[in-house]
Amino acid sequence: MKQITINTVIDVYDDLKELDPEAQKLMEQAIEARSNAYAPYSKFTVGCSLLLENGEIIKGNNQENAAYPSGLCAERVAIFAAGANYPGVAITRMAITASPIDDSFAKPVPPCGACRQSIAEYESRQQQPIEIFFMGASGTVARSNSLADLLPLIFDRNYL
Ligand code: THU
Repeated sequence: MKQITINTVIDVYDDLKELDPEAQKLMEQAIEARSNAYAPYSKFTVGCSLLLENGEIIKGNNQENAAYPSGLCAERVAIFAAGANYPGVAITRMAITASPIDDSFAKPVPPCGACRQSIAEYESRQQQPIEIFFMGASGTVARSNSLADLLPLIFDRNYL
């Protein structure tokens, strides 16, 4: 028997203002996207913005449905929009903001498992890491170098 240890490095910033200007702007776009989330059932609002290698910013927010599973998370709304409208253009950075209450929620909210799997597909497809920033509604911001850091033992096309 042998053991494998998997390490993940997450950078933690006390405030949005500590990020580089481009990342700050991207998170501000995610905040704006969150304000337009359609979340009448959970009241948990999420905004996501993506920076593409061509400089475009794509925004998404969660879209809920009376038939609950028919809704979609903000991250997938954003990456699917990027995939649909900018095929072949790599996503370089992603910013996520989420809150169950109001703008005082300061605990970073990471993407759910299904979103991680979906983002992993894009990272594997473009063969380039996506830097991911995530926060609550304000305060502490967490950052990972790539989706792979958030999803150990990733299942991808290499197993098919
Ligand atoms: N949600 C997201 O948009 N992203 C996540 O990564 C986690 C959950 C949404 C789905 C649902 O509309 C609400 O948050 C509560 O789960």
